Amino acid sequence: MRLIQISDTHVSASHQFFRSNLAATATWLRSQEATLFVHTGDLGMDSAGQEVDLYASRDWLAGLGAPFHCVPGNHDVGDRIEINPRQPVTGARLQRWRDAIGPDRWLIDQQGWRLIGLNAMLLGTDQAEEQAQYSWFDKALETDLPVAVFLHKPLFIDAPDEPPRGYWSVAPQPRQRVMASMRRARVKMVASGHLHLHRQQVVDGISYVWCPASSFVCGESQEELGGERRLGAVVHQFGVDAVESQFLRPEGLDDLKIEPVQQILYPR
Ligand SMILES: [Fe+2]
Ligand SMILES: [Fe+2]
Repeated sequence: MRLIQISDTHVSASHQFFRSNLAATATWLRSQEATLFVHTGDLGMDSAGQEVDLYASRDWLAGLGAPFHCVPGNHDVGDRIEINPRQPVTGARLQRWRDAIGPDRWLIDQQGWRLIGLNAMLLGTDQAEEQAQYSWFDKALETDLPVAVFLHKPLFIDAPDEPPRGYWSVAPQPRQRVMASMRRARVKMVASGHLHLHRQQVVDGISYVWCPASSFVCGESQEELGGERRLGAVVHQFGVDAVESQFLRPEGLDDLKIEPVQQILYPR
């Protein structure tokens, strides 16, 4: 089974700064044969703030000619209130996502694997939806199949027991909750987006893959987190009981930085 993962397209209805990268990604995707396509969030530039970006993202995806399984990012449905007080995750934002894109968590059994999409933006919100997702996740992990999990924010940057990493990863408490559940199943991979960096590392037998962005990279506004600061995609090849992940670079990408236009796109 060949699965293509892309992330962080940041499609905008009104700004065109990264349109050449989106066009190059779309051209490349249309040439690819894959069993499944996954998008790990931040589909839109500011869908949490303006609905038009959500619909622009949906239209961009529809033009790819292949069905995508998507999990939401902070710019799609908002973030924890302490991270982004102006755009918290709300029932209205979640409903908008579900109406336009589809479920924010999902489970697919395919060719001897269980693939799970998790809504990382609920983690640490203390909302009823967060609890509902934990119950759903525990049930989804009741399987003998090997499992791969997809979510927007990485569970951690360097190590599962590290202190809070603020904006960049899932907070320690929900991280421990998710990882305790994962220990009850044969989880082989956790693949995320959000950082606009590529890295792969194996921790306790699980492959943690950071899928790079398709739109822009971060420069000096991003602290040093490790990983490669390049645009691209990841191809996951699923075997009998193991998955191999490979960075791929669609032709025509330009590693444009966010900083020159950051104040226009994300004014403080
Ligand atoms: Fe992003
Ligand atoms: Fe993000």
